[in-house]
Amino acid sequence: MIIAIDGPAASGKGTLARRLAAHYGLPHLDTGLLYRAVGARCLKEGRLGDEGASVAAALSLDVSALDPDALRTAELGEAASVVAARPGVRAALLDLQRRFAAQAGGAVLDGRDIGTVICPDAPAKLFVTARPEVRAERRFRELAGRGETIAYDAVLADILKRDERDSGRSSAPLLKADDAVLLDTSDLGIEAAFAAALAIVEARRA
Ligand code: CDP
Ligand code: CDP
Repeated sequence: MIIAIDGPAASGKGTLARRLAAHYGLPHLDTGLLYRAVGARCLKEGRLGDEGASVAAALSLDVSALDPDALRTAELGEAASVVAARPGVRAALLDLQRRFAAQAGGAVLDGRDIGTVICPDAPAKLFVTARPEVRAERRFRELAGRGETIAYDAVLADILKRDERDSGRSSAPLLKADDAVLLDTSDLGIEAAFAAALAIVEARRA
């Protein structure tokens, strides 16, 4: 069983993906980390504006060495969205995501293009959203909890800019697949959102 989860920043897709993976005993891939790692490498080399450098970083990415804690900063979210708009970067990361999804027993993947490009045949697809202000509040708290204090207004502005870039790019834009079920978590706590997501997946399994 492949569960594909897409949605904009801080919609709660990662939390749902982790919870569903634990529930079904499936491996989980947060595909945002791949783009964050490519962005991190480019920033380190001072070559974020260099398309060739980002493709090279994507081609040589060592997935076993990803450090989620170090990658989940606001700066790397922005860098990820810059490199993610490049078709060469997306092409370089395609195979490894498809291989992950093809594991015996299935997998849970979350990102922006899982239901549309990576796993178009996934039986269970969720498109998770929430109002921008709610997402900014969540991200603000999350970053503050990790010691990264950024003004709420700046977090909201970053989220809106990233939404626009991710939705507006020509290569695998953030888009709800026709057969994905929309889940708005704006007014749902984590437990309620998980219960709703589980019900959607169970309905697809039946
Ligand atoms: O957690 P959050 O949604 O803020 O970010 P993320 O999922 O780690 O993704 C960071 C950036 O990577 C996004 O803004 C997208 O530009 C890009 N991304 C993508 O293009 N395709 C994916 N499957 C996953 C992430
Ligand atoms: O993966 P994505 O960027 O879509 O979001 P996430 O990492 O799952 O959630 C972002 C933050 O919002 C986390 O700190 C979650 O605990 C919190 N959250 C929430 O408060 N209520 C929800 N229904 C889902 C997530």
